[in-house]
Amino acid sequence: MRIPSLCVFWLFSVGHATCNLTRKCSDLADKLSLPNTTVWFTESIPAGANVSFPDNDPTCGRPYQQVDVDICRVATLTETSSNPASNISLEAWLPSDWNGRFLSTGNGGLSGCIQYEDIAYGVSRGFATVGANNGHNGTSGQPFYQNPGALENFVYRSVHLGAVLGKQIAETYYARAHDKSYYLGCSTGGRQGFKAAQEFPTDFDGIVAGAPAFAFANLTSWSGSFYTISGPPGSPTFLTQAQWARVSKDFLDQCDDLDGLVDGIIEDPNLCHYRPEALLCGSKPSTDCLSGEQAETVRKVFSDLHGKDGALVYPRLQPGGDASLLMSGYPFPYTGDWFRYVVYSDAEWDPSTLGPEDYAFAASQNPFNVQTWEGDLAGVRNRGAKILHYHGLQDPVISSDNSERYYNHVARTMGLTTTELDHFYRYFRISGMSHCSGGAGAYKIGNVMGAMSGYDPDENVLSAIVRWVEDGLAPDHVKGTGETGEGETFARNHCKYPLRGRYTGKGDPKSPDSWECV
Ligand SMILES: *[C@@H]1O[C@H](CO)[C@@H](O)[C@H](O)[C@H]1NC(C)=O
Ligand SMILES: *[C@@H]1O[C@H](CO)[C@@H](O)[C@H](O)[C@H]1NC(C)=O
Ligand SMILES: *[C@@H]1O[C@H](CO)[C@@H](O)[C@H](O)[C@H]1NC(C)=O
Ligand SMILES: *[C@@H]1O[C@H](CO)[C@@H](O)[C@H](O)[C@H]1NC(C)=O
Ligand SMILES: *[C@@H]1O[C@H](CO)[C@@H](O)[C@H](O)[C@H]1NC(C)=O
Ligand SMILES: *[C@@H]1O[C@H](CO)[C@@H](O)[C@H](O)[C@H]1NC(C)=O
Repeated sequence: MRIPSLCVFWLFSVGHATCNLTRKCSDLADKLSLPNTTVWFTESIPAGANVSFPDNDPTCGRPYQQVDVDICRVATLTETSSNPASNISLEAWLPSDWNGRFLSTGNGGLSGCIQYEDIAYGVSRGFATVGANNGHNGTSGQPFYQNPGALENFVYRSVHLGAVLGKQIAETYYARAHDKSYYLGCSTGGRQGFKAAQEFPTDFDGIVAGAPAFAFANLTSWSGSFYTISGPPGSPTFLTQAQWARVSKDFLDQCDDLDGLVDGIIEDPNLCHYRPEALLCGSKPSTDCLSGEQAETVRKVFSDLHGKDGALVYPRLQPGGDASLLMSGYPFPYTGDWFRYVVYSDAEWDPSTLGPEDYAFAASQNPFNVQTWEGDLAGVRNRGAKILHYHGLQDPVISSDNSERYYNHVARTMGLTTTELDHFYRYFRISGMSHCSGGAGAYKIGNVMGAMSGYDPDENVLSAIVRWVEDGLAPDHVKGTGETGEGETFARNHCKYPLRGRYTGKGDPKSPDSWECV
């Protein structure tokens, strides 16, 4: 246990108020009584501090974090099984200037990494914010090997426990319960948000879930299928990075104008019926065009993946997506880890052998229901909680077509129209957004601290979910901002599915007023 005694120093530098909070933070360790949990340390952190994490796994790539506000930082470890041992490391950051709300953050990929930047974002807005390590440290899936407790932590227990314990920690610190609780996550974090919605609907009043890695076993098969399509670099079926760039440009040539404006952004990939044969070299081979086999590769990437007996495994990469990452000519690392350490418990498993039998086996195995594909969200609806789901339409690693598939799966399972779903579940397609952030589009929507133009609920999804939950004002669109190739700022209102954005044909295309949702 590490209890800093900086009170005397702060007494002189900032005065009694901070000193009192320091005392309150150091007292917290003794006051907390949490099941199977050790309080590692508590420490007061003053606004503006650059906190370093010397024990953090280097693969997490998060050695330090700037913190903008005064907080009490609490680090705990909860034992979740013995023989083999598993545990969850949790951090709760409690701002002095608390807004009465609780926020939980998620993880990415197969990690293993507390997303300190998301916690810092939460506290900067006044939320008591938690983040957990998903039951292991680092980005590898190796800790799942013959450790079901560690796997269970990854699939659902880490975020759930973080919500349960985090709320208790906040209540002890502030001497009162929170008012409303929220969740913010993308990618694996998006799947974790839907896991809460499907199985732990009382954990959160509002969930922001981006680019969810749900249908997880199938997604993992799909990510691994690309290497079996392309083969290693130099194979006749393989495209170079330059050729993929050529394909991306050709997508725009064929489909950019379908939304009424040629601007490098495809508003609705569903309208795009791409024809890679337009890039065939014909009788003049060159590096700027495709062979017949390469055109076949492009067709496969942008076609749904089917398995045994024609079953849909996972939808195509959405048209216009950049395939160069998945088609790098190397096996997708998460797929290798998942099949080696979870599906087959065989560290020697060879990713080049992946095929329909493996897809089916991984899907039927579905440990702890990692698929996260339940279509019944009645738990969320019945308690009045809200879900804001978003997905970038140029996501190069998780197809946005799968988000659309889930939305329609929920609609069918619950038998609800879009108007009825709108009361508790809304899905926004973010044109031109890459995986969780970045891209040619108006991708800055406030889902992460590094990508926002402000805190107004119209242009910030975290503020938007708060307004929806607390004021009953549901978002009809999500306003994003971005930069054009010329470095000019532009804004666009991203439409609520199934609507799509269309340029009205008049007015400045950089202004959202020149676009409509149809
Ligand atoms: C510090 O806390 C004590 C009680 O614990 C209180 O009487 C005092 O007013 C506080 N000082 C400041 C500056 O908040
Ligand atoms: C925080 O500290 C690290 C070294 O521990 C340094 O590299 C980094 O630049 C610092 N960040 C800020 C914002 O000061
Ligand atoms: C604490 O751990 C034990 C053994 O692992 C388990 O049986 C028990 O349910 C845990 N308690 C809570 C509240 O999770
Ligand atoms: C947490 O579990 C891991 C194995 O998953 C183990 O190596 C480590 O020692 C445990 N940590 C503690 C503090 O018990
Ligand atoms: C993760 O790292 C923390 C801090 O170093 C350590 O206490 C914990 O045991 C580690 N967890 C696992 C599962 O190895
Ligand atoms: C996953 O893939 C299997 C075929 O391998 C299919 O039967 C199943 O419906 C798929 N599940 C989801 C959630 O996509």
